[in-house]
Amino acid sequence: MHHIGTQTIKTDRLILRRLTMDDLNDKYEWTGSSENSKFIMKEPHHNIAEAKSELQQEVDSYIHDDFYMWGIVYHGELIGYICGNEINEEIKSICIGYCIKKAYWNQNITTEATKAVIDYFFDIGFNRVFSYHNPLNPASGKVMLKSGMTFEGRIKGGSMLAGEICDCLQYSIVRSEWKKYHN
Ligand SMILES: CC(C)(COP(=O)(O)OP(=O)(O)OC[C@H]1O[C@@H](n2cnc3c(N)ncnc32)[C@H](O)[C@@H]1OP(=O)(O)O)[C@@H](O)C(=O)NCCC(=O)NCCS
Repeated sequence: MHHIGTQTIKTDRLILRRLTMDDLNDKYEWTGSSENSKFIMKEPHHNIAEAKSELQQEVDSYIHDDFYMWGIVYHGELIGYICGNEINEEIKSICIGYCIKKAYWNQNITTEATKAVIDYFFDIGFNRVFSYHNPLNPASGKVMLKSGMTFEGRIKGGSMLAGEICDCLQYSIVRSEWKKYHN
């Protein structure tokens, strides 16, 4: 593994870059929205101070070269994030998570970002990239499929929804599949 941290990635329509404290208002648009945060947070941020505290932790974490968190920029606006966490060094595995503002849903934006981040992770030596979603959130599973992952199974009690333990549907792609996918 050769960790390089969160470096800028460019795709056809997007710039994926590090978050900064200037991103606070944009971030609060999704962390403060119950619809946006439903499947990723215990509850939405109640005020901008909570979003600021989380953003500060994220910005501070960029000193670690195994911290992967990109802001997604579309037409100059920060519209969401994509991250890699739950790293297992032994099996070279990493989990992808994402969220974008509702106004930009269903335009293939998260899929475009996810494909780019999958390439990034395999390029730096990961062998397995996975993700999972709540069964009530099929759009997220669609992103995983469209990004080249395949369904692995239903993980019983494998996730949290609004603070409650629940099942999740898990998808992955491993290096050998990724190579085929790209040839
Ligand atoms: C999940 C999320 C990231 C998807 O982002 P997105 O940019 O809209 O995703 P894409 O446009 O790349 O793909 C979405 C796909 O889901 C499909 N979809 C949307 N709603 C759906 C539904 N209720 N059932 C089935 N498919 C659905 C879309 O039609 C699209 O597929 P298509 O391109 O074949 O038509 C976005 O909805 C979001 O930010 N949600 C809140 C945060 C979240 O849930 N994060 C994931 C946690 S696991």
